[in-house]
Amino acid sequence: MDIIKKRKRLGILTSGGDCPGLNAVIRAVVNHGISTYDWEVLGIPYATRGLLERKAIPLSRHGLDLRGIDPLLNMGGTILGSINKGNTLDRIDEIVASYQDLQLDALIGIGGDGSLAILNKLRTAGNWQFIAIPKTIDNDVALTDRVVGFDTAVNTIVDALYRLTFTAASHDRIMIVEVMGRSAGHLALHSGIAGGADVILIPEIPYTIAGVCEHLAELRDKWGRRFAIAVVAEGVKVAEDSSLYPSCQTPSCGIGQYIAEEIRNCSHNELDIRVSVLGHIQRGGIPTALDRLVATAFGKTAVDLIAAGETGKMVAWKNGQVEAVSLDAVLLESPLHVAANSSLVETARALGIYIGNGAITS
Ligand code: F6P
Repeated sequence: MDIIKKRKRLGILTSGGDCPGLNAVIRAVVNHGISTYDWEVLGIPYATRGLLERKAIPLSRHGLDLRGIDPLLNMGGTILGSINKGNTLDRIDEIVASYQDLQLDALIGIGGDGSLAILNKLRTAGNWQFIAIPKTIDNDVALTDRVVGFDTAVNTIVDALYRLTFTAASHDRIMIVEVMGRSAGHLALHSGIAGGADVILIPEIPYTIAGVCEHLAELRDKWGRRFAIAVVAEGVKVAEDSSLYPSCQTPSCGIGQYIAEEIRNCSHNELDIRVSVLGHIQRGGIPTALDRLVATAFGKTAVDLIAAGETGKMVAWKNGQVEAVSLDAVLLESPLHVAANSSLVETARALGIYIGNGAITS
């Protein structure tokens, strides 16, 4: 009688807020897992919700393409769906058991620091073979130089700043551009510098409204600039010298609107100010070449780590190479804030961008 050898069964899921590049990771994992190792690859829909419901979709190289055209490399979002909140840890035993019920031999989880912390708890509880791939437009996962999704989001914001600059200049207006970043200012800092902003406010650096207003006045009086662009991260706190909305401590109160009101006040209503909240536009779109490259290299390496029997690791980009780092170590240092010795903060200051008064806090 022939002995039928069971093919290794690899699960893959996407968890937390989506971002461009997730489908490129899925594509790389499916291609490499099947072509190189002859594994079965199962997509778990909606992350831990799919595990709870014992749902798994067989993925195949040719099942993903469209008459020979492979759309996944370029497509935003995630074909597997994702959840950004959940009562996952209340049902830890049920989720852990699903790994056995679905007969998984290993799992790859693509997530930001919040999702990876949850998945790491499940891995430990269930003794899973688990490899993590970092993704987040917030760029706040530690121990990696790059994450999937950040570069596309930066480019989306830079494009918006370019468009807003001309309408601001035409009307002599101050444009406040609110971008994502609940606790870390990487997105605002990178896009603000690359997009030519005049003011960048991030959660890590205290600022004053007087400082912002003095800077705008200097632009106008000294340099003849009658418009300005201010990039504000959604997680920015109230100004040290705030006169308005002292209870405005959360993104939900609209930090961009708050900053606009404060500037209006300090300019005695002389400045014409508009606010643009970019919101989830930052999470959409076609992944940039860099995000596709990082996604593909991460997916390939995650598969190789599974093949090598590794677990509890995260793929990381270091000095242009992909390597494996301990997931426990990553989670100890995440969320990663803008660093006190950040050369980008110094760059912003050297270029005459107002980025707050104080030292970096985190
Ligand atoms: O974690 C990334 C992020 O984009 C945050 O910057 C933002 O606050 C959050 O997701 C919003 O996510 P959602 O609307 O999906 O809950």
